[in-house]
Amino acid sequence: MAARIIVFGNQKGGTGKSTLAMHLTVSLLNQGYKVATIDVDARQGTFSRYIENRSKTKLISPEILVSTHTTLLGDVNDSKAVVEKNNKEKFEELMRTRREFDFIIIDTPGSDDYLSRLAHSYADVIITPMNESFIDLDLLVKVQDADSKTLKPSIYAESVWDQKKERVIRDKGVIDWIVLVNRMSSIGSNNRQELEKVLVALSKRIGFRLAKGFKERVIFRELFRTGLTILDKNSPLSQMSLSHIAARQELNELLHTLNITPKGKYPDESEDRVVVSA
Ligand SMILES: Nc1ncnc2c1ncn2[C@@H]1O[C@H](COP(=O)(O)OP(=O)(O)OP(=O)(O)O)[C@@H](O)[C@H]1O
Ligand SMILES: [Mg+2]
Repeated sequence: MAARIIVFGNQKGGTGKSTLAMHLTVSLLNQGYKVATIDVDARQGTFSRYIENRSKTKLISPEILVSTHTTLLGDVNDSKAVVEKNNKEKFEELMRTRREFDFIIIDTPGSDDYLSRLAHSYADVIITPMNESFIDLDLLVKVQDADSKTLKPSIYAESVWDQKKERVIRDKGVIDWIVLVNRMSSIGSNNRQELEKVLVALSKRIGFRLAKGFKERVIFRELFRTGLTILDKNSPLSQMSLSHIAARQELNELLHTLNITPKGKYPDESEDRVVVSA
């Protein structure tokens, strides 16, 4: 079986792509899967930095699991065309190692470039986090009237459609596009309810599934320097708060949406999902 390829993408910057890519990677490693990771956002390199920090922590805590990571960097001495050609070849070479892994997680930049498009076209799943804001929605799909009847796909939605076509042409594969709201405020607001209503209404027409999202939680950013996450037993948290348990639950919900269970288990054998509200 070839690895399932999960790409985090959204041409809007700062929506949580790298953060969620890292947390999904650690979830999968801890469930017993072999995971490769690729950072095609080398200019910013957040995903690579997170994994680099994790590798350093592994030197003192060898039990920590780390993915096989590749950053696609350009040589500053080469021309843009040479860098693009080399990165494309490297990316395609990585795709040929698919049988060695269960999952390949790819982080892409918050902007459009050839490598990001190439990565999207190899995806089995595209996960698009967005902020709890109509501005973010507008960058996904232009709603042209108040009752959302007239739509114009955004550049990103059009780009996903193009990559879906690329994928069909290459291997007749189907890309599952998932959108989720990240950094939700703790207090339910009219804005969120309105946004969710519009997203549900749009999902069929634009062709994505709407997943349960993630709340704004300090725990999703405070462990970056150690490369650890809330899922690591040795994370330097003195005690688990309700918010931490809820954060884990949100990650479990994402695995559930992706139909992923611990390696070797079937969906009905996985642990019951306890509902915690925090
Ligand atoms: N659920 C969350 N709760 C709290 N902070 C979060 C959450 N998700 C992301 N963040 C924070 O939001 C900021 C943006 O996150 P991140 O860098 O992962 O976004 P990105 O989409 O990868 O950005 P870019 O497009 O620039 O690559 C970071 O400071 C990160 O720590
Ligand atoms: Mg990023």
